[in-house]
Amino acid sequence: MNAPAKSEDFAVTAPAGVFVETVTSVTHYTDHLFRFRMTRPSGYRFRSGEFAMIGLMVDGKPIYRAYSIASPSWDEELEFFSIKVPDGPLTSHLQKIRVGDRVLMRKKPTGTLVLDALTPGKRLYMFSTGTGIAPFASLIRDPETYEKFDEVILTHTCREIAELKYGFDLVEEIRNDEMLSEIVGDKLRHYATVTREAYSHQGRITTLMQNGKLFADLGVPALDAQVDRAMICGSSAMLKETKEILEAAGMEEGANNKPSEFVIERAFVG
Ligand code: A2P
Repeated sequence: MNAPAKSEDFAVTAPAGVFVETVTSVTHYTDHLFRFRMTRPSGYRFRSGEFAMIGLMVDGKPIYRAYSIASPSWDEELEFFSIKVPDGPLTSHLQKIRVGDRVLMRKKPTGTLVLDALTPGKRLYMFSTGTGIAPFASLIRDPETYEKFDEVILTHTCREIAELKYGFDLVEEIRNDEMLSEIVGDKLRHYATVTREAYSHQGRITTLMQNGKLFADLGVPALDAQVDRAMICGSSAMLKETKEILEAAGMEEGANNKPSEFVIERAFVG
């Protein structure tokens, strides 16, 4: 498929095996965070929580980065939540996209933050920092999550309060959606914390798990490998430390071909 160039900056002729999609909305949250939505290729299938390779033509060459798909698998559009890195090879350009611009997407989605990679449980924790909330933005809007779990706890930790807004918008969107709000009911809990500003919930999620404040605030028991399942998405250091806490609670890491008690994925930047 060859798409005509829409704007000069992002002039696109589709490389082979790549979709060329059109941006439908862009929302800027802070100087370094934004969300965009784009058309979804007909017949494009993915599992909520997976990521895709998203790109732009820059100086005549395609540049791609891994992006979690933030929209659920039933959505007719695709949504992404991105960091803006001033000199990032892709995001320095991607942050300038506007409605009508063209974005490249490689054909095959993949990833481990999928419900199939977890064994059955009762309570699902989603631990995220920064743009690591993106795969969970998909999963908390997927009815299957609530078919499989009685309680879904989304934690989101950022440096500053303004960076939490995307998460609050998501939860509000669910509450305002007639069908989703019925399915989700009161199963979804959103626990947002910041680390570099005064706020009602403060501190790294790892600290709040270790000192028990997370569980006390939510009124839930400490981690229990029998009933609790978890997904983690954040920086490498955050993944490592959260994983250690889960393992200390007797939980084991799973994968697509070997479902278990928790799964992890790096939040991608660049
Ligand atoms: P902190 O402000 O204490 O570094 P970043 O923007 O650097 O990716 O961080 C996003 C959020 O993740 C910040 O609130 C940061 O806290 C927190 N964070 C960074 N490293 C870790 C870690 N190893 N474990 C848990 N949280 C972390």
